Amino acid sequence: MGRRWAARRLGLALALMVVVVLAARCDGGVTSSFVRKSGKTVDMPLDSDVFRVPRGYNAPQQVHITQGDHDGTAVTVSWVTQDEPGSSTVLYGTSKSKIEFFAEGKYARYKFYNYTSGYIHHCTLRNLERDTKYYYALGIGHTLREFWFRTPPKVGPDVPYTFGLIGDLGQTFDSNRTLSHYESNPKAQALLYVGDLSYADNHPNHDNVRWDTWGRKCTPVPDQSAPVYITIGDGGNVEGLANNMTEPQPSYSAYREASFGHAILEIKNRSHAYYSWHRNQDGNAVAADSMWFSNRYWHPIDDSYT
Ligand SMILES: *[C@@H]1O[C@H](CO)[C@@H](O)[C@H](O)[C@H]1NC(C)=O
Ligand SMILES: *[C@@H]1O[C@H](CO)[C@@H](O)[C@H](O)[C@H]1NC(C)=O
Ligand SMILES: *[C@@H]1O[C@H](CO)[C@@H](O)[C@H](O)[C@H]1NC(C)=O
Ligand SMILES: *[C@@H]1O[C@H](CO)[C@@H](O)[C@H](O)[C@H]1NC(C)=O
Repeated sequence: MGRRWAARRLGLALALMVVVVLAARCDGGVTSSFVRKSGKTVDMPLDSDVFRVPRGYNAPQQVHITQGDHDGTAVTVSWVTQDEPGSSTVLYGTSKSKIEFFAEGKYARYKFYNYTSGYIHHCTLRNLERDTKYYYALGIGHTLREFWFRTPPKVGPDVPYTFGLIGDLGQTFDSNRTLSHYESNPKAQALLYVGDLSYADNHPNHDNVRWDTWGRKCTPVPDQSAPVYITIGDGGNVEGLANNMTEPQPSYSAYREASFGHAILEIKNRSHAYYSWHRNQDGNAVAADSMWFSNRYWHPIDDSYT
């Protein structure tokens, strides 16, 4: 009897030890105590200030740029005109007072259920100088609008470059806060929108008007695509607070928090990059979480446990 009890106790102790060891191994990282307000967040109404159509007949709207070639010497400018096709030409130059070059683009439009798009223009500016500020103008013949961008530096293993990262932006009131908060963070040179952009599919017939409003909202922010895949939390997701997380925190999870924000990825040189994450509720873009990344080829340290 006594021996059996001892054996059982040993079994129990072993079982407890296994649980403790498993718990220790599963304890991946930090769970932030910050919890944003719960509840669903709603799309900003169609007549919101940030969705306003720019003033002027046939004024170019939803203006944005994307990288126009693989080595960063071309930029594609895209925009929409609503009243008539108008001009697909972009005027550009390195000084505001001397816009000396021009490029010809093309336009197209599409129908989707009962939606008919505006005239969507794309125009690629080529042979640009690297790391140079360009001014450009579009809307020739009707309402001219001017913008600027800076071309990326020449690609190299030690060329620093800083990206802003926003996931699941959507077009809710929280999306608007995320964009304003991002704009108050002066570091980023280009912004990557990571997945789940407009949430148009939440509306009847995937209402493509919601792509237009999303496009107008995101106009003032420089936008450049790059082959980077990062999983980041929400910028303004309509589904509300998603804080039903796997417990205990798995070993692959370093940090988790249920809130809205944006991230900054700073490429420092061939061996180092720095990632920081900024929640909207923190004023002037303080980092709520941050991490150094090292390149395994140029800086082969074992950081799998940090
Ligand atoms: C969006 O944010 C901007 C800047 O903070 C503000 O001026 C604007 O009124 C906001 N719009 C809405 C609909 O919340
Ligand atoms: C298209 O159809 C949807 C669903 O019936 C409706 O909500 C929307 O107002 C319609 N849009 C136009 C431009 O007729
Ligand atoms: C949380 O997730 C678990 C497992 O997927 C599910 O059973 C549970 O209903 C979820 N709870 C809520 C509140 O969504
Ligand atoms: C790369 O950047 C990191 C972080 O700024 C710095 O510590 C390191 O010395 C740099 N390496 C080189 C070779 O410049």
